[in-house]
Amino acid sequence: MKTIFSGIQPSGVITLGNYIGAMRQFVELQHEYQCYFCIVNQHAITVPQDPKELRKNIRSLAALYLAVGIDPDKATLFIQSEVPAHAQAGWILQCLAYIGELERMTQFKDKSAGKEAVSAGLLTYPPLMAADILLYKTDIVPVGEDQKQHIELTRDLAERFNKRYGDIFTIPEARIPKIGARIMSLADPAKKMSKSDPNQKAFITLLDEAKTIEKKIKSAVTDSEGTVRYDKETKPGIANLLNIYSILANKSIEQLEQEYAGKGYGEFKADLAQVVIDTLAPIQEKYYNLMESDLLDRVLDEGAEKANKVASEMLKKMENAMGLSRKRK
Ligand code: TYM
Repeated sequence: MKTIFSGIQPSGVITLGNYIGAMRQFVELQHEYQCYFCIVNQHAITVPQDPKELRKNIRSLAALYLAVGIDPDKATLFIQSEVPAHAQAGWILQCLAYIGELERMTQFKDKSAGKEAVSAGLLTYPPLMAADILLYKTDIVPVGEDQKQHIELTRDLAERFNKRYGDIFTIPEARIPKIGARIMSLADPAKKMSKSDPNQKAFITLLDEAKTIEKKIKSAVTDSEGTVRYDKETKPGIANLLNIYSILANKSIEQLEQEYAGKGYGEFKADLAQVVIDTLAPIQEKYYNLMESDLLDRVLDEGAEKANKVASEMLKKMENAMGLSRKRK
């Protein structure tokens, strides 16, 4: 059975972008692969986090993983900082990575642009992500489009390590969905939808209430043409809404274009809001039940135990191959 690894940062409430680009895939893939899904809290601290909020977001993300349909009997769900091998292997891979290649990462460039003080962790974030992936002999990494460059770097680091120290790592591949790999901001369809966007109207979270969802979709930026038609270049706002609609309602874009021929944006947006509300209602119900149960801690304890076993073994192999261990084993 092939292995899958993926992670999500607990840096705010998960957005519809995270759900469509990543989580929905996880739920499907858990039936066919050995899966590890991680709450990457050490990645979240590359930018300042309020401790209270972070603790809450970690728990909330764990509950959301289960609420969207991750089955703890099939997949291993765990918190990154509870498996110390990640930080240890991350350090080793930092020593293999070049500053130049890290500075070329678009996420680093975006997140550091215009900032006076940027943490060193923001720059060395990709080797930690590589450690996450490589520790589990991962074959496939399901992610949204924005993580593609990080997976390419992971492959480079794995190949570099294998060449220098012997064939230890499996070279992973990214799995990016054909549609929905880049859900755009509702306020600015040139930007990706992000949970850290300061404009609350730019994103929908999985925990937004029906009224909020209606308001956010109603105010989504479109164009003045007034026709519901897919054109990414000239109508990026409508194209983004059509993408979301198509994925969540399981209807093709052509089908939707026909359905809304001669109808205005108002009706289209109201129907889309309903589709989003109907998708999120059962997730939210499960989420609130989970937050009150003790199941979460049990799942996370078991997940950490399983992950620790696999990850510490790989870490030992790495240390041994590099000469860090006292004896060659
Ligand atoms: P993060 O937390 O930013 O996002 C989690 C997942 O959601 C996807 N995603 C999107 N997909 C479509 N449209 C969007 N607007 C959108 N926004 C986010 C992301 O591509 C991602 O798949 N570095 C990672 C976390 C990470 C990781 C890993 C992922 C750490 N270690 C190991 C995979 C494997 C990140 O910041 O994702």
